[in-house]
Amino acid sequence: MSRIVYVNGEFLPEEEAKISVFDRGFLFADGVYEVSSVLRGKMVDNEGHLQRLARSLGELKMDAPCSNQEIEDIQYEVIRRNELEEGMLYLQVTRGAPADRDFAFPKDTRPSLVMFTQKKSILDSPAAKKGIAVVTLPDIRWRRRDIKTVGLLAQSLAKQAALEAGADDAWMVEEGFITEGSSNNAFIVTQDGKLVTRGVSSDILHGITRKAVLALAERDGIEIVERPFTPEEAYEAAEAFSTSASSFVMPVIKIDDRVMSNAAPGPVANRLRELYLEMALKEVSQ
Ligand code: PDD
Repeated sequence: MSRIVYVNGEFLPEEEAKISVFDRGFLFADGVYEVSSVLRGKMVDNEGHLQRLARSLGELKMDAPCSNQEIEDIQYEVIRRNELEEGMLYLQVTRGAPADRDFAFPKDTRPSLVMFTQKKSILDSPAAKKGIAVVTLPDIRWRRRDIKTVGLLAQSLAKQAALEAGADDAWMVEEGFITEGSSNNAFIVTQDGKLVTRGVSSDILHGITRKAVLALAERDGIEIVERPFTPEEAYEAAEAFSTSASSFVMPVIKIDDRVMSNAAPGPVANRLRELYLEMALKEVSQ
């Protein structure tokens, strides 16, 4: 069955949805996006995603297409029309489609707003039970990774290179330190039980799941250290995992050639995944 997608005020079958070739998202990657997870037909932590969307728009001096309340109403209409129970709601705002290609920002051009759903089993994830393998690769992205732009080519290249190397994902490295995963934030647990993840700055995306997981870890009495860590430190860690709206907490059992935590998800990753799922399910059942 074809999906119903939302494009600039219309709900359309995906084959009928159209965007101008002059849309600046297409020509300049001049757009921002958010991915919210959906459980039981409801979005998890969507307020955080919409706050980050407003921040991304502000950093790029891009107009919002409408209020956050209107965006959320459209998100729920797209979820409803697609009868999505579990998966993701993707939303993208671009600086719109002016009459011609021009590097300067257009005047009087309305932003474009696009949304679609993606079905995915997030709760019952075979990868989360088994853990994933990551490879470290150079981070070749631009310097404003805190803005969630659709300029994702470096991440796409990294993910593809990881798959071709027989792994599941890439952890990117800059100046000897891990920045983050191709589409997730990276964490390790040291041998003495500290949870280490890079602090927020323009070097990484300020993950909504990262923030929630840190709050849960703190409440659970886990000591948190926000600082950069090296691949070598990660090889020696007790555990590793990543966080994102599309996978929640994903245990990592291999980094490059080093097998972690006896090739099985570690207890801290499992515990944080369990706590996150509990919190998310509570939120969507309210
Ligand atoms: N990616 N870092 C990067 C580079 C990301 O692209 C993402 C999310 C994250 C995690 O952020 P959050 O917890 O807010 O999802 C970190 C989404 C899921 C994507 O592009 O599909």
